[in-house]
Amino acid sequence: MTTSDNNSSDKGPVLDANHREESQSGVNQGGMTMFILSMVVTFASFIYVSFFSGGIDLKEIKPLEEAAVEQKVAEVKVDVSGITEPWLPNDDMVKHGAAVYKTNCAMCHGNEGKGDGVAGGALKPPPRNLIEGKWKQGGSELGLFATLQNGVPGTSMQGYKDALPAKDRWALVQFIHSITQDKVNDSEADLKAKAPTLQ
Ligand code: HEC
Repeated sequence: MTTSDNNSSDKGPVLDANHREESQSGVNQGGMTMFILSMVVTFASFIYVSFFSGGIDLKEIKPLEEAAVEQKVAEVKVDVSGITEPWLPNDDMVKHGAAVYKTNCAMCHGNEGKGDGVAGGALKPPPRNLIEGKWKQGGSELGLFATLQNGVPGTSMQGYKDALPAKDRWALVQFIHSITQDKVNDSEADLKAKAPTLQ
């Protein structure tokens, strides 16, 4: 009894230690298996992408870039031909106005309308900061349109009656209204009554 007791108590810890070792190496083996599996999966997908799916071709990315560029162009070239009352608030007119502004006004009034365009630096008076406004001839739709009809006498701000169609000038009015902090709105009734008579 005593011997067997001793034996068992001797063996006990040894067995336990063995068991622990076994179970530890069992965990390690599992970890190694998972590691090898993940390597196999990674390698297999690498092989798949490189040889079977045709790889990640730069040509696949290019059309996306082209699409983005087309979208930018589309944003600028808005078709406003269907708009019959260009003086009434309309998002497409604002976008069209932004394009007309870039071509005709930004050199003096600046790309963002801050009055800091490259051609405006030496002018006296300098081009107006369109964001701040402070209009001499009125910041309502009809006031701004009058400025674009006749200019500001005695300054380098010309009238655009002959240079730009009335629709483009209404687009500019709407664009300025979209960026300025100093705006007054004419009533729709006023616009409908007066705007169609203006050229
Ligand atoms: C050659 C430079 C030049 C160009 C180009 C130009 N402007 Fe001006 N603009 C001026 C100057 C200078 C003034 C300031 C006049 C003043 O202070 O009396 C002015 C003033 C204005 C004003 C303020 C009017 C007011 O009631 O006080 C508006 C609005 C305006 N411009 C819009 C435009 C738009 C829109 C375009 C494009 C179609 C344009 N300008 C093109 C130089 C320019």
